[in-house]
Amino acid sequence: MWDPAQYLRFGSERVRPALDLLARIPLAAPGHVIDLGCGAGNVTAMLKKRWPEADILAVDGSEAMLASARQMLPHCRFEVADIAHFVPARRPDIIYSNAALHWLADHRHLFPRLVSALAPGGFLAVQMPAMDRAPFRTLQQEVAKMGSWAEALSGIGRVQPILDPGEYWDLLEPLAASLELWETTYFQVLTGPDAVLQWAMGTSLRPYLAALDEPLRSAFREAYAASLRPHYPERADGRTFFPFHRFFLVASVGIERSRG
Ligand SMILES: C[S@@+](CC[C@H](N)C(=O)[O-])C[C@H]1O[C@@H](n2cnc3c(N)ncnc32)[C@H](O)[C@@H]1O
Repeated sequence: MWDPAQYLRFGSERVRPALDLLARIPLAAPGHVIDLGCGAGNVTAMLKKRWPEADILAVDGSEAMLASARQMLPHCRFEVADIAHFVPARRPDIIYSNAALHWLADHRHLFPRLVSALAPGGFLAVQMPAMDRAPFRTLQQEVAKMGSWAEALSGIGRVQPILDPGEYWDLLEPLAASLELWETTYFQVLTGPDAVLQWAMGTSLRPYLAALDEPLRSAFREAYAASLRPHYPERADGRTFFPFHRFFLVASVGIERSRG
C-alpha cells in the first residue's frame, strides 16, 4: 500500500526533479497528455497548470494514491492500471513519468513500447531515481538478510536496477527524432529525526514493511535506521544531508512517423 501522506512528507524535494523534467518538454499545446504513475497527483497538477487545455489522463496502480489525486484534480481523468500492461486508448502527445518507472521490470521492452505509442511529434519524458549503489538502497537489502525477518523478506525489494544510460540510448535512438539523457545529484537537506528512514518509508522501504507483522516490522525498521545513521548523520543543527542521484530521459518521435 502506498501512503500519500508519508510520500508527500518531503513534497518539495520530490517536486524539484519533476519540474526539471517538465522544463525539457518543448510542446506548447499538446492535445493529450498521460501521466504514468501519477501517485498522489501533485505532479499531475503541474502538468495541468502548464497545459490547461490538454486532456490529461493520470494512471496509477494504487487506489489510495489515486483517491488523493482525484480529489485535487476534478478536471483530469484517472485510470487504475498496471503500467506494465497499460495501452493508451489513443496516441498521446506526451507520456510523462516522474519517479515511477523504476518500479517496473523489463525496461528493454517497456521503453520502446512507450515511445512507439506516441502520436507523431510526441514526447516521452521520464525521471527515475538512480540510487541502486547508494547506502540508502543497498542497506535495505543487507539488513533484510540479517535478522529474524530474513525469511519473511526473502525475494522482497527491487526487481532489477535501472539500465545504464547507454542502454536506453541504444534502445531508443533508432526510434527517436531526438533523445536527451542526463543525470543530476540533488543535494537534499532533510529535517527531523531519522530523516532518511522517513524518506524511505514513503517509497522504497514500503514493500519490506508490508511483508512483516509486528513486532518484526518495528525491529527491522529500527535496524535499518541504525545502519543508515553512520552514512547520513544528523548534523548539530538537526538537519541531514541526503545526496540523491536521478536519471532523466526525454525522447521525441518525428512528425512524419506513420501511425501504425
Ligand atoms: C514514487 S510515486 C511517484 C508519484 C508521482 N509521479 C510523483 O512524482 O509524485 C510512484 C508511483 O508509481 C506507481 N506505480 C508503481 N508501479 C506501478 C505499476 N506497475 N503500475 C502503475 N503504477 C505504478 C505507484 O503506485 C506510485 O503511486
